[in-house]
Amino acid sequence: MQHSGSIPKSFIEDLLARADIVQVINQRVPLKKAGGTYKACCPFHSEKTPSFNVNPQKQFYHCFGCGASGDSLKFLMEYDGLSFVEAVETLAQMNGLQVPREQLTPKQKEQQKKTHDLYDVMHLVAKFYRQQLRVHPQAELAKSYLKNRGLSAEIAKEFVVGFAPNGWDVLEKGLKADAVLLQQLVECGMLVQKENRYYDRFRGRVMFPIRDGRGRVVAFGGRVIDDEQPKYLNSPETPIFHKSYALYGLYEMRQSRQNFEQILVVEGYMDVVSLAQFGIRNAVATLGTATTNEHLDMLFRQVNEVVFCFDGDAAGLKAAWKALDLALPKMIENRSIKFLFLAQGEDPDSTVRKEGVDGFQKRIAESMPLSQFLLDGLAAKVSAPKGSPEARHQLVVLAAPYIQKAQGLYQFLLAEAFAQKLGLPTWRLEKEMGVRSGFATNQNNKQPTKALTPSTQIKSLPFKLMAILVRRPYWAIAFEADLLTALVEDKRQEYQLLAQVVVLLQQHNYLIDAVAQWMLSSGWQATWKALQDISLLDDDGFLRGEFDFSFVKLATELKEAQLLSAGLNDSALADLDKFLKDLKN
Ligand code: UTP
Ligand code: MN
Repeated sequence: MQHSGSIPKSFIEDLLARADIVQVINQRVPLKKAGGTYKACCPFHSEKTPSFNVNPQKQFYHCFGCGASGDSLKFLMEYDGLSFVEAVETLAQMNGLQVPREQLTPKQKEQQKKTHDLYDVMHLVAKFYRQQLRVHPQAELAKSYLKNRGLSAEIAKEFVVGFAPNGWDVLEKGLKADAVLLQQLVECGMLVQKENRYYDRFRGRVMFPIRDGRGRVVAFGGRVIDDEQPKYLNSPETPIFHKSYALYGLYEMRQSRQNFEQILVVEGYMDVVSLAQFGIRNAVATLGTATTNEHLDMLFRQVNEVVFCFDGDAAGLKAAWKALDLALPKMIENRSIKFLFLAQGEDPDSTVRKEGVDGFQKRIAESMPLSQFLLDGLAAKVSAPKGSPEARHQLVVLAAPYIQKAQGLYQFLLAEAFAQKLGLPTWRLEKEMGVRSGFATNQNNKQPTKALTPSTQIKSLPFKLMAILVRRPYWAIAFEADLLTALVEDKRQEYQLLAQVVVLLQQHNYLIDAVAQWMLSSGWQATWKALQDISLLDDDGFLRGEFDFSFVKLATELKEAQLLSAGLNDSALADLDKFLKDLKN
């Protein structure tokens, strides 16, 4: 958007009141008067007899043929192909008006600034560590370490690899930190505060900055150079860093500007960097955690195929089962998951060095599809004598929870694969497992579906606010603790649901995936879909107006209810007055 600040809702209302829809449309599609309305052949579908009507009283158009309808702005958007803001600007110009812009409230600005500042601080730190790698006397060790591990200067530069010298006040001195910066460094996990003393979290380590999708440094991983423990130290969770959403190397992968059809998920920082060094640019790592739902969603937004590279040991197998468990419900359309198990004690870094790019790529090409891992893995867990009815029965019991987790056609295909292995008809197996192929849901393992009634969906403020938050998750910042409390205390389902959505967003860096994940896994599928489907213009100005309007209305409603239940007296009324004034700021 070319302008900052949103368009006040009141201006849009004025504009629509002043503009004449007949004039707007007639300039583009010649209209014929027919009684109190105007008619034309519909510009939005092809027809021979006119079913497109324009009503000057209601300032509205409607086509009885194709159902197209709306006001002047909607017409401009659809017919001229404009964005909402462009349509507002066009209409304003036609009526000799200037479009005013609203600024963010001081509170919103302050919040935005606070998070901005933390990104700036992390950027500063990354630059500092980078510089230390070049100039610090201790850095020789780090440099020769990196060199021994085969890293070129180019790759080190691209991944912004740096060095944290050994010491307790390196950052404080190096950045000449004042009290404000010290506090910010604590907040982003770079300093540890003990009473009035601050000390460096990372000391004597090679530093790998972790960047978010937009390239902003949000955290660090630091590796020791010698044999000290722990080998890797990661940033703690901070307002800008959430481990379960972080994938090391994803930003760098995108920066390489290659079109990948597949992403490799590896375990270590060095695996990512080292593969990149060999020109394999599509590897990312989780940061010392198991794969999360959020990771999978991020990966599948990039590509349809994900290959997990694990150690061939027990821990690697366990990690694979965990990933499989999370992935099953997500196996839709042409997605695919594969597993590559490396030899004991080997990782992608050591493998690519020993076997070269071709050797490594060959292993990737031969990696095991999820279905095979599941079939073979479960067969290996059967204890009864091979081929006996008991063994076959055990396999059915073992497979059921997995097949139940899968969706749609993939569920059927998995069931079919097991049925073939067992020599059973697929329908018999499905009956046993309580699944019906081709259906996205099944009765057996699903929680009861919950949904708001259709009338609640259309009329309620919470639903409207949720629909806007789905489109602009960051705006959940507007809900403060006391408003959330009031929402939670309201017993109505949609109020509690809104509270849950806001809390999820506030706790997950305003990422809507957190909400999606929760709704889809706790019985709110239909509501989640309804939130997507509700038609709202995807435009900042429009959404902002709708949001502010509904937000103030909701807050007022809750506050009034609170006061009413407490008994209304003069001081309560004054309280309400003040509350309303504060809201408007
Ligand atoms: P590895 O020990 O396999 O890492 O741990 P690596 O990258 O292969 O290590 P080197 O440098 O080649 O020896 C895999 C990942 O687990 C996390 C880190 O994210 C690491 O990259 N980890 C490991 C920690 O968080 N802390 C540790 O002490 C060790
Ligand atoms: Mn390694």
